[in-house]
Amino acid sequence: MKVGIDKMHFASSHLYVDMTELARARGAEPDKYLIGIGQAQMAVIPPSQDIVTLAANAAYPMLTQADIDAIDLLIVGTESGIDNSKASAIYVAHLLGLNRRCRTIEMKEACYAGTAGVQLAQEHVRVHPDKKALVIGADIARYGLNTPGEPTQGGGAVAMLISADPQVLALGTDSTLLSQDVMDFWRPLYRSEALVDGKYSSNIYVDYFQDVFKGYLSGTKTRAEDLTALVFHLPYTKMGLKALRSALPMVSETKQEAWVAHFECARKLNRQVGNLYTGSLYLSLLSQLLTDPELQAGNELGLFSYGSGAEGEFYTGIIQPDYLKGIDLGLPQRLARRRRVDVATYEKCFNQQLAWEATDQTIDYHTDPHRFVLIGQRDEQRQYLDQWA
Ligand code: CAA
Repeated sequence: MKVGIDKMHFASSHLYVDMTELARARGAEPDKYLIGIGQAQMAVIPPSQDIVTLAANAAYPMLTQADIDAIDLLIVGTESGIDNSKASAIYVAHLLGLNRRCRTIEMKEACYAGTAGVQLAQEHVRVHPDKKALVIGADIARYGLNTPGEPTQGGGAVAMLISADPQVLALGTDSTLLSQDVMDFWRPLYRSEALVDGKYSSNIYVDYFQDVFKGYLSGTKTRAEDLTALVFHLPYTKMGLKALRSALPMVSETKQEAWVAHFECARKLNRQVGNLYTGSLYLSLLSQLLTDPELQAGNELGLFSYGSGAEGEFYTGIIQPDYLKGIDLGLPQRLARRRRVDVATYEKCFNQQLAWEATDQTIDYHTDPHRFVLIGQRDEQRQYLDQWA
């Protein structure tokens, strides 16, 4: 039985900052951000969006009533949690009108938790093939203004419906994992911005990729040459390129050229959004499926997921004949229609997030065009609104 991704949809902000402008404001060469980091634009998340609204805005447009009736598992993977106890997934299930008989949880292991969700969901569907699972990776990447990590911020959510006989990608049942205690990136409970050892984290990322990729090839019948393209978690798009380059000596020259060309498509949309932690690998998969003219049904993709801390996994999927029916075809146009804001406006948005304190707060959401918005906090409870209802 085939099980895998049946539908995929993305949501982020309607605002972005141009990386050339941000580089100039920070006294950096624009090419450092554009080429050295590999980012052209960065999503600016307004205070009216958090992981709950991003997740709900990602999933809502792709779900039919039949999907909603069949979903009995919702997993939100995130490292931008909004509560130490209650799962963000419960709010998301409510906004989406999901079935009450649905297992509804939030998962955490840095950027890896979206993949943990996908793998648990595919196992769930293999046992219950008449059911569907909704997995959403939703995050807001925050390092701080004027920090080295700043050009690798961003935010958004990717929602994936996991089912039997999927339209988009049939997932393999083999995968290789690596999990060890590494202090490359973390966020103590009292901080809203991550702590990171940037260079170390980038080196560990490549080490993990090498370990799980080679482990996968030696433990399965798959040869590197069989893989049409490699799709990576992209905290910044140069990171994926570094990992890809480390794999090129393993294949023929023709395959090397093909992998590099496919990678340029896989990073196209991530270059315009920035990091979205748990969703980054899956935005890159969307980018591959939406913008790569050389892809065909039957092609096998290798996927590398990495979460600092650290955990990595390599697995594969086969593109299905109807894949264009299951993906977010309007995404490139939606990104092109976003509003560019100046650096001062980006900084204001960055500093205007709902404060971590007990007071009642209101958020001006009237210029936010998204269906689901965060409108404030009352009696220490976050207030969400479906402004199109
Ligand atoms: N033209 C072209 N390239 C230029 C340039 C110019 N004018 N000026 C500099 N560069 C290049 C540099 O040579 C360098 O390239 P290489 O990495 O290939 O050597 C690149 O631009 C970056 O320059 P620096 O190394 O000087 O950059 P930096 O010290 O300011 O920091 C960073 C870069 C470490 C990625 C930092 O942005 C950071 O800490 N980011 C957050 C951490 C991160 O994303 N880690 C990734 C792995 S962890 C993970 O994947 C989980 C996750 O999502 C966080």
